[in-house]
Amino acid sequence: MELSALAIRVARTPGLGMLPQVTSQVLRLVDNPNASPRQIGALIERDAGLASKLLRIANSAYYGAPGKIKTVSQAISVMGLSAVRSVVVGQAYQQMTSVRGASKRFDRLAFWQHSLATATAARVLAKLKGWRDPEEAFLAGLLHDAGRLVMDRFLANEFDQAITLSLERIIPLSDAEHEVLGYTHVEVGDLLAEQWSLPESMRIPLRRHHEDMSFEECPLGCIVHAANVLAHQAGFALGAPVLYELPPIVRQTLGISESQYEGLKQAIVQEVVKVQEALRI
Ligand SMILES: [Fe+2]
Ligand SMILES: [Fe+2]
Repeated sequence: MELSALAIRVARTPGLGMLPQVTSQVLRLVDNPNASPRQIGALIERDAGLASKLLRIANSAYYGAPGKIKTVSQAISVMGLSAVRSVVVGQAYQQMTSVRGASKRFDRLAFWQHSLATATAARVLAKLKGWRDPEEAFLAGLLHDAGRLVMDRFLANEFDQAITLSLERIIPLSDAEHEVLGYTHVEVGDLLAEQWSLPESMRIPLRRHHEDMSFEECPLGCIVHAANVLAHQAGFALGAPVLYELPPIVRQTLGISESQYEGLKQAIVQEVVKVQEALRI
């Protein structure tokens, strides 16, 4: 299918049945500097599953007030808006990735693990680098390959061919996608980001995470690029187990030492195991 034809199909499938309405409204409100925590709380309360998950997290030992948080707006004030945003999207994304698509060879659990591993790495890298919003980096990492969910649904045959090609020739899955389709999950992800009305700051890393660029040129793109490579190196690969390396420009401008990278890879593995146990998947 041509990319233009795919764009029409994506645009004609409202919400793609993927990102629930409450989620996209919350995301828009969180990005609106005039929105109050009370408005956001009222919106979250319309989704009982989401509200209870948020209360559970706010009452965990991590936020220092176990059992004391009774309302969603209290939860927002102890957790902060950025962390709330991560929970909202993380829960929606987990639901989306567990929906069966049409592809026979796409491993949805491996995809979820890869996304979570990249998100975790992006958050840690952002903190090490002193980036202003580590939760934004987490989200960008979580969503970076979202285009593959659309491919699973609308381009199942082509996607299966690409996965087969990647495994047979031991080439990166995105190269195989390009060979089969003439475009990759990056362009497809951008269609999805538009459909979801993701803010531009979030769309840039989705669009540029396979490019070699300096931190100065594109901070979040550079962070997500490195996080994706680290997720692959930590064993959370998609397609063939190709050896991914950090491009020199990314390595130099992030300025993170070799020993920090080793610790980071271990932290990624632990985080994925922990979240997987919490969600029982
Ligand atoms: Fe990617
Ligand atoms: Fe990736």
